[in-house]
Amino acid sequence: MEVPARDLGEGVLMPMLGLGVWQAAAGTETRQAVEWALEAGYRHIDTATYYRNEADVGAAIAASGIPREEIFVTTKWMPALRSAPSEIRRSLERLDMAYVDLYLIHWPLPGRIRNSWSAFEGIREQGLARAIGVSNYGSDRLKKLLDSATVPPAVNQVLFSPFHYRKALLELCDRRGVVLEAYSPLERGKALGDATIVEIAGRIEREPAQVMLRWGIQHDAVVIPKSTHRERIVSNTRIFDFELSSDDMRALDALDRTGGTGSARR
Ligand SMILES: NC(=O)c1ccc[n+]([C@@H]2O[C@H](COP(=O)([O-])OP(=O)(O)OC[C@H]3O[C@@H](n4cnc5c(N)ncnc54)[C@H](OP(=O)(O)O)[C@@H]3O)[C@@H](O)[C@H]2O)c1
Repeated sequence: MEVPARDLGEGVLMPMLGLGVWQAAAGTETRQAVEWALEAGYRHIDTATYYRNEADVGAAIAASGIPREEIFVTTKWMPALRSAPSEIRRSLERLDMAYVDLYLIHWPLPGRIRNSWSAFEGIREQGLARAIGVSNYGSDRLKKLLDSATVPPAVNQVLFSPFHYRKALLELCDRRGVVLEAYSPLERGKALGDATIVEIAGRIEREPAQVMLRWGIQHDAVVIPKSTHRERIVSNTRIFDFELSSDDMRALDALDRTGGTGSARR
């Protein structure tokens, strides 16, 4: 499987498809999902301290025998915990890795944007994370951070799907060189029966999930669908051998319920 990548600068390439593991239970469920994903050709896994499965992600990657540098690993700092520099060391211990490819602030801490970001810049400087970014940042917070950062955030991971088409935020990211990463790109599996999606999928002989993921890819977003079922993990990779027409893209764009704002909130 040939997966395109977004360039985060300085030789860091982020595959546009990754496996998300939120709500994959620690232990066998996460290990198996990661193992199946790597077998299916995924080279990008998205975990977080909050998900409590970093150790299983690390174990499955180690067991795969695939060289570490061929896999893009993201984890996230929980702002409520200790400082980011001590937390990333704990994450790396659990992952049993020397570095992560991307370290994200999981959600914004009002009033502490500048301080936490300086700590992230230090983490990157020390080589503990190859790239740094944020999550759940709306346009206003992202602009504030971009205006004050020495190293700009490479990525903003937000809820992004046809039902959460954050056009203004996407355009801001595009203008300022930030990669928009789409979490819950399948709307947590709850919108796969939507009439527009089912109609398009039936007509082009694809799965509804593939249509939703392809929509994200055609907006240049990185998509990280979660599944713990092997056949779905495999099926979610089949999004690079077809294209949605501009009419279908427009019909999917019109499902947006956010009003096209730059907000990161639901
Ligand atoms: N930064 C943040 O604050 C944040 C927030 C939420 C999520 N995330 C990240 O984004 C990842 C993805 O988001 P998500 O887990 O919220 O939701 P999602 O990927 O939109 O949807 C996952 C749901 O869809 C089902 N599913 C997956 N593939 C399917 C297919 N081909 N056909 C039918 N159903 C399918 C899964 O079920 P099964 O597992 O049973 O197959 C699961 O219930 C997370 O795992 C996490 O890594 C980040």
